[in-house]
Amino acid sequence: MNYRIAVLPGDGIGAEVVPQALRVLDAVAAKAGITFEYTYALIGGAAIDATGHPLPPETLELCRNSDAVLLGAIGGPKWDTLPSHLRPEVAALLPLRKELGLYANIRPCHLFPALADASTLKREVLEGVDMVVIRELTGGLYFGEKKRETLEDGSERAVDTLVYSTPEVERIVRLACETAKNRRGQVCSVDKANVLESSRLWRETALKVAEAYPEITMSHMYVDNAAMQLVRNPRQFDVLVTENMFGDILTDQASMLSGSLGMLASASIGGEVALYEPAHGSAPDIAGQNKANPLATILSVAMMLEYSFKRVEEARAIEAAVDRVLNQGYRTGDIMEAGKTLVNTVEMTDCVINALA
Ligand code: NAD
Ligand code: IPM
Ligand code: MN
Repeated sequence: MNYRIAVLPGDGIGAEVVPQALRVLDAVAAKAGITFEYTYALIGGAAIDATGHPLPPETLELCRNSDAVLLGAIGGPKWDTLPSHLRPEVAALLPLRKELGLYANIRPCHLFPALADASTLKREVLEGVDMVVIRELTGGLYFGEKKRETLEDGSERAVDTLVYSTPEVERIVRLACETAKNRRGQVCSVDKANVLESSRLWRETALKVAEAYPEITMSHMYVDNAAMQLVRNPRQFDVLVTENMFGDILTDQASMLSGSLGMLASASIGGEVALYEPAHGSAPDIAGQNKANPLATILSVAMMLEYSFKRVEEARAIEAAVDRVLNQGYRTGDIMEAGKTLVNTVEMTDCVINALA
């Protein structure tokens, strides 16, 4: 079997971690008798520099015609002052997700036991954490109408609109319930229904969807409380489902439950072609130094194997290899502790590949 993968390294550490994840895929392919065909394409700041646009039409076309897409990260200080129609985040990543119909972003957040002391949070709080955040990805504040205007007194006014329709909420909550069926059967829907009209619609819709799932226990939590509960008692969460921006913020926070943002993988699904992307960004502060933790991206290709290619065994093998490497004491800087072995991006990947063998 041959799988065609669109490879979009992007900017900063995105361009460092993506090639490493491909090395892991190659190691898996050799063992499993499958082949991967990689086609690279430009996105983000790299695409602006080369073509003037952060999402060249040929990149989108390639993604549409591939079996899966692997993205590193985009953006960085060099492109931060561009107008929004050219900014990598707004003009490349959001349209890419929208155009591919990827309404659900799945971010599994669990603790590899070896990392129980790697986080700034206490071991007692983290042990046994195993949750998955399902973030709505093509609606909400990110995609509502935006406006900027100059008022009579010369001051400026900017508007972002938070919009959700019933079908958008239904499909994401349904996915959360389906996911929970194969887990501990608990869905926590996170909203701000005490203030926002869109959240009231969200909660009413979630309650209706839950009626079709008698085996699921659904709870509802306000987002401010959820942020607190994530660090107070994260083990209470099984599947957490929430709107786009709440999910963005809560998952960066939840990443510390696994030790580092550099550990948090993700799959963006819902269309014919899925996109796999570490949850982190281009990390300009460490870019170009071979320091970045490649595990979020390596775990994202494991998700690709499972979700897009139904190669569950190979996906589990990668996760087991990561577990083994962490148990052996290998650490990139972000998860480093006293007494462990500091490795760089490429060396960490070497370790994973060795552990796969
Ligand atoms: P960031 O995720 O890039 O970095 C936040 C912090 O986490 C930094 O200190 C960074 O060094 C660290 N970090 C992140 N990933 C790491 C890894 N793999 N290994 C070790 N340390 C890691 O967030 P930011 O600094 O707010 O944003 C930087 C740029 O990335 C911005 O332009 C932002 O818009 C963009 N961004 C892109 C994506 C994406 O493409 N999916 C996601 C988030 C941010
Ligand atoms: C993420 C990122 C993106 C988001 C940005 C870069 C548009 O933070 O994937 O989490 O907010 O979705
Ligand atoms: Mn984010």
